[in-house]
Amino acid sequence: MAEKVQIFDTTLRDGEQVPGCKLNLPEKLDIARALEELGVDVIEAGFPISSPGDFESVTQISKLIKNATVCALSRSVQKDIDAAAGALKYAKRPRIHTGIGASDFHIIHKFNSTRDEIVERAIWATKHAKKYVEDVEFFCEDAGRSDPEFLARLVEAVIKAGATVVNIPDTTGYCLPEQYGRLIKHLVDNVPNIHKATISAHCHNDLGLATANSISAVANGARQIECTINGIGERAGNTSLEEVVMVMRQHKELGVYTDIQTQQLYPLSRLVSEKMRMIVQPNKAIVGSNAFAHSSGIHQDGVIKCRENYEIINPADVGVSESSIVLTARSGRAALRYRLQMLGYPVEKFDLNHLYEQFIEIADREKEVQNAHLQQMMSDLALSAVA
Ligand code: KIV
Ligand code: ZN
Repeated sequence: MAEKVQIFDTTLRDGEQVPGCKLNLPEKLDIARALEELGVDVIEAGFPISSPGDFESVTQISKLIKNATVCALSRSVQKDIDAAAGALKYAKRPRIHTGIGASDFHIIHKFNSTRDEIVERAIWATKHAKKYVEDVEFFCEDAGRSDPEFLARLVEAVIKAGATVVNIPDTTGYCLPEQYGRLIKHLVDNVPNIHKATISAHCHNDLGLATANSISAVANGARQIECTINGIGERAGNTSLEEVVMVMRQHKELGVYTDIQTQQLYPLSRLVSEKMRMIVQPNKAIVGSNAFAHSSGIHQDGVIKCRENYEIINPADVGVSESSIVLTARSGRAALRYRLQMLGYPVEKFDLNHLYEQFIEIADREKEVQNAHLQQMMSDLALSAVA
């Protein structure tokens, strides 16, 4: 039987760290509401210690959200955890997300510490967070570059201290899919109490591998993915929510499912793009403006005959009204006929080759041939026929 993968959305925390993407409170509430409607399991609402504004946003989101878990970030520091707990006071399902660096880079060059001390701090932080909430997620920062043996020791210790979710971030976006999957499998195979917690994948996109790495984690036992709408986030971004959700939906052989209402993916992508004033690249998978647009003659002909010839996703399934046939100088007769028919012209009464010649003249002048161009073309033809 298929197993559920929890979708942990961090658009409002890791996503909002993008320079220039800062949101005000009403904008955050709009996005949080839309995320709940989308069906995400967890909303990471912010990092309450970072500013009074962030504390207030987490408080208000906690009051607003009814079904999803609301999560607040903290370092393994008392004042952070206390602030996270304070901001989550009204949450129906509160989760504190605490953690510390797990790679030697972070242990030595960030914390000037030792592995033993890090384990002690991690145990302390988990137990402290547990005093406030039952649901504690522990992040092992830079796990992607950590020593797997040490990571397993750290994970075992925090689960013993009460962590319900263990987050294994590829903080720097360094790992290859096979490598990240192997790291997750190493934990499944070597942490004796791993069955008491959910393993979470948190990937960054520095090498463009965040989606592939997250899916590899799922294939190896992770049951939560941390992601953002449009893949926004630090540097090259986080795992894109719409991509991982659609990969799991399209590939049933993975044996997993999510509760995401996929028809809301495109509208939510637009909402986040608009509120964060961050455009979505046209060729972005699933939600880019070209994701269901066909412009070459061969593809257009194929799609007109049968959509599945060139589309693996029905656009309606992600909230895009329909595929589009873009008319350019690369388009063929089939696309021209299709568009003219859509505009109501009795194409069969014309010589298609002649129409096509006229069309190509326009297409060589214009980047894209619009309906208005075709309407002008048809009325010019009608006039010349009369004359
Ligand atoms: O990338 C990362 O390691 C993080 C943690 C704070 C979870 O965002
Ligand atoms: Zn991150």
